Amino acid sequence: MTSNQKLINWVNEWAALCQPEKVYWCDGSEEENTRLLSEMVASGMAVKLDEKKRPGSYYFQSDPSDVARVENRTYICSAKQEDAGPTNNWADPVEMKATLNGFFKGCMKGRTMYVIPFSMGPLGSDIAHIGIEITDSPYVVVNMKVMTRMGKAVLDVLGNGEFVPCIHSVGAPLEPGQKDVKWPCAPIEDKYICHFPDTNEILSYGSGYGGNALLGKKCFALRIASNMARRQGWLAEHMLIMGITNPQGVKKYIAAAFPSACGKTNLAMLVPTIPGWKVETVGDDIAWMKFGKDGQLYAINPEAGFFGVAPFTSMDTNPNAMLSARANTIFTNTGLTPDNDIWWEGIGYDAPEGTITWTNELYDKASGKPAAHPNARFSAPAFQCPCIDKDWENPTGVPIAAILFGGRRPGTVPLVYQSFDWNHGVFMGSIVGSEVTAAAIGLKAGVRRDPFAMLPFCGYHMGDYFGHWVKIGESAPDITKLPKIFNVNWFRKSAQGKFLWPGYGDNIRVLQWIFERVTGTAAAEETAIGYVPKLGSINTAGLEGVDANMPELLTVDKNQWKDELDLVREQYATFGSHLPEELAKQIIAIEQRFEK
Ligand code: GTP
Ligand code: SPV
Ligand code: MN
Repeated sequence: MTSNQKLINWVNEWAALCQPEKVYWCDGSEEENTRLLSEMVASGMAVKLDEKKRPGSYYFQSDPSDVARVENRTYICSAKQEDAGPTNNWADPVEMKATLNGFFKGCMKGRTMYVIPFSMGPLGSDIAHIGIEITDSPYVVVNMKVMTRMGKAVLDVLGNGEFVPCIHSVGAPLEPGQKDVKWPCAPIEDKYICHFPDTNEILSYGSGYGGNALLGKKCFALRIASNMARRQGWLAEHMLIMGITNPQGVKKYIAAAFPSACGKTNLAMLVPTIPGWKVETVGDDIAWMKFGKDGQLYAINPEAGFFGVAPFTSMDTNPNAMLSARANTIFTNTGLTPDNDIWWEGIGYDAPEGTITWTNELYDKASGKPAAHPNARFSAPAFQCPCIDKDWENPTGVPIAAILFGGRRPGTVPLVYQSFDWNHGVFMGSIVGSEVTAAAIGLKAGVRRDPFAMLPFCGYHMGDYFGHWVKIGESAPDITKLPKIFNVNWFRKSAQGKFLWPGYGDNIRVLQWIFERVTGTAAAEETAIGYVPKLGSINTAGLEGVDANMPELLTVDKNQWKDELDLVREQYATFGSHLPEELAKQIIAIEQRFEK
């Protein structure tokens, strides 16, 4: 299938180490996809969903120990520990490779080694990059088929060129005659998700789930790509990309970084609740951004599918996600109905009698155990999204007019505010915090700092990453064309613990204010932390009971911000000499503005 000798040698070397029963090169065809899925149904790993209700769709239950990313088993193996920074686990690359060698030796016994050529970004685009994932998981193959451009066409584009080597094993070899389990994986202490930024390599052992195993996504498109972007002067970010068209037909694109399970997929596909506005989706999780010839920052979505959080996705909250997943979709850790459809909490109707939970038990609402794991996901092809943007595969990307940051903040942070300038916006990104969610295993509850929503995904020193953002501003061909920067918070709560803002489709009202700040017409109040909407300048027409909440939603409380800045200082101190001076100055400037 390829004459790329380097690739052939590399596959042969890993096959010799992992000792699979056979090696199979994926061609990416429909026939191949259907065959692998049928084999998984036959082996009991997958359930084929009802062909009328969910054409071409399949259901999987993971091992209860393997349900999300494992941040404490994720490593950046740079030559120098200092380059990984205080927010990453570091391991010496030589030692880690020796350790992993031990784990990978014979780890694919009794299994097939699949070779998956994939492209992050439209095939052949200048911004795209090619990876090759070796895996012993057919579940990974069928997910990579949804999430990336994959198969023989990628090898044709690769020719004799360079690729990012990605090695993955579920870490569960089979002895002769041993029966496989439904979801093979290794125990938590044997899981390793390792990145070698100096050589652009990825080695992942022991987990079959999501970002741990679909190596094109977080491992390549963020952790390795953030290193490539740093070296080459571009940005690899945990951001959705969306187009917004106003009633006059003017269209602007925005990118938004929110931590995992904080609303990127929902915002990217929102259905506006105010007349005349239109939203179109370019991507829901990752953005690669570079300056274009016209001096604007352009973004592409390197992925080809959505790996979306299932629970609380419904025809009410996110119909476009529901419709994206209407067919040809892989569901993992949702509930399963007796008529072979999926069900989850917040889907919009009661669970049919006889629904099975993600742990394969009969669902009993009274037990308090959910049918779907909170990090249950759907893998749906992006082209099936009813509001997919016509330029979503445009190799030059789309021009970004605004960048949004945000997280789940019950207090302190107003519904929306705008930075005074680029560096102040970089500061806003650097102080993002959020209540933790189910997207990663084993985190303490409460608000944690998640700078740029990249805490688990930045592949080098976070302080240097901030510096890279400052540099991007300095290197802009035309600073007047830099995106305007905002922070949003849909999650502010009242003293009674109720959300003050309706969220979802009504977030268009905040996007309208942002849009009109970019085009220069919306009214703002200058506060110590940035420009906050003037009371009455957010369109609340037709919303009941929200006007009464607006003062609280827009409050900037000096004492709360004093506490906030103390926490930021504490985190900034961990970055030492890597913290750009431009950001340290921002804290002092805010404090001075509070004293004015
Ligand atoms: P990852 O795929 O993990 O990176 O997550 P994401 O940022 O794409 O999150 P997603 O859009 O899937 O949202 C996760 C959860 O946030 C879901 O349970 C949503 O119901 C909830 N959510 C999204 N938008 C809003 C909102 O505007 N208001 C409220 N209250 N909840 C929201
Ligand atoms: C996230 O956790 O931010 C995700 C899911 O998008 S995963 O691909 O598992 O990282
Ligand atoms: Mn994500």
